[in-house]
Amino acid sequence: MFKFNFDIEDADDEASIIDNSVEKAVASQSEVSQNPFKELPVQHLLDSLPSQLSCSPITITLQESADTIHLARRDLFDARFQAISEGTGVPENENDALDPHSALAFLEAPSDLVPGVYEGGLKTWECSLDLVDYLRSLEQKGNFFVFGKRILEIGCGTAVPSTYLLNAIFSSTKQDKDTVLHLQDYNDSALELVTFPNILLAWYMSPASASFRSTVSDANQSGENDSPIFPPPDPSSPAEIPITTEMKAAFETSLREYRIIIRFFSGSWNTFDLERTGGKYDIVLTSETIYRVDSLPSLLDLLFNACKPAASVTPPDPDTTSRLVLSSEPSYLCLVAAKVFYFGVGGGTTEFVQAVEQSRDRNGQKAEVKTVWEKNTGVKRKIMQLAWNVT
Ligand SMILES: C[S@@+](CC[C@H](N)C(=O)[O-])C[C@H]1O[C@@H](n2cnc3c(N)ncnc32)[C@H](O)[C@@H]1O
Repeated sequence: MFKFNFDIEDADDEASIIDNSVEKAVASQSEVSQNPFKELPVQHLLDSLPSQLSCSPITITLQESADTIHLARRDLFDARFQAISEGTGVPENENDALDPHSALAFLEAPSDLVPGVYEGGLKTWECSLDLVDYLRSLEQKGNFFVFGKRILEIGCGTAVPSTYLLNAIFSSTKQDKDTVLHLQDYNDSALELVTFPNILLAWYMSPASASFRSTVSDANQSGENDSPIFPPPDPSSPAEIPITTEMKAAFETSLREYRIIIRFFSGSWNTFDLERTGGKYDIVLTSETIYRVDSLPSLLDLLFNACKPAASVTPPDPDTTSRLVLSSEPSYLCLVAAKVFYFGVGGGTTEFVQAVEQSRDRNGQKAEVKTVWEKNTGVKRKIMQLAWNVT
């Protein structure tokens, strides 16, 4: 059994469990096969939705102001119910019962991850909430603008930071430029069962869904249709949200109106194809992805390539160059949220910083990591900002 006990579903469980099977899981991790890069089209994800989503609030208490933010998140039991009802993971024979590739096996498993097979994306991990806290504090200081940016969330899982950003966009005035949001997870099943449902919920809980909801409610009142009743958008309360064809169409209309281009990618980090995703990003976010030392080189390569200013494309303008060499003012924002220690797997912030320094040596790039947020009580956690100097 391999269990961090650090995802928020397990917050009340007993302390972290380390046993021999953890050692075995970690020891075999370098032998695991890699998932190829793949795009899951929005249409496929819309088609994968069930007829109803059950959700509950995630509450984030802001460190600086003690205010709270509520975000709607699909209930894990609801994802499990979908997996069961669609037969995903229902064993047809004895051997299938052992198949770790099924979504249901991940949902039912007592383990938090199966290295190289399932990497923990179905559950929400604490540091994703920390990213929201930090992004909100930047926003409140006027240091963070999402509109018109290319954003990538790496190892998104339930995508709490992205749902926060999307909800903010859908709660603002319509923009005259495209905002690009790309979400990456190792597992297709995580994107289908939790990432995309949470993205849809972020829209539903925002003012952008108002015209759809009022149209349905007017039609219901006048007896013009027998559409299900859509509850008021309240991310602070549990809810059951019907999913209809009209609702899916309204979501897609809002994406166009707010000029949001959203795409979903699965596969291992070392297969992530930046050419196919359109190149580097302005904002790169990742949480709880540094737990395994063996994976750090591929994660760092992806972070570096996704953030790196296109030095070979952009002529070396002295002003631009001087901005890039200052870690406090890189031309992109790269944030890595993580626990200081991951018991049983060997990773943590110290190992991550070492890996950053080693990768700098290997690539001849100057990399800097600075801690921009931290929590030192209870389970220690940090948010680190990365910047690479282009020399
Ligand atoms: C522990 S989960 C964290 C999920 C989410 N960021 C959160 O904080 O709730 C780790 C995530 O990293 C991704 N991941 C881990 N190793 C990976 C790899 N080698 N390649 C691609 N994705 C990986 C998985 O998809 C998974 O969603």
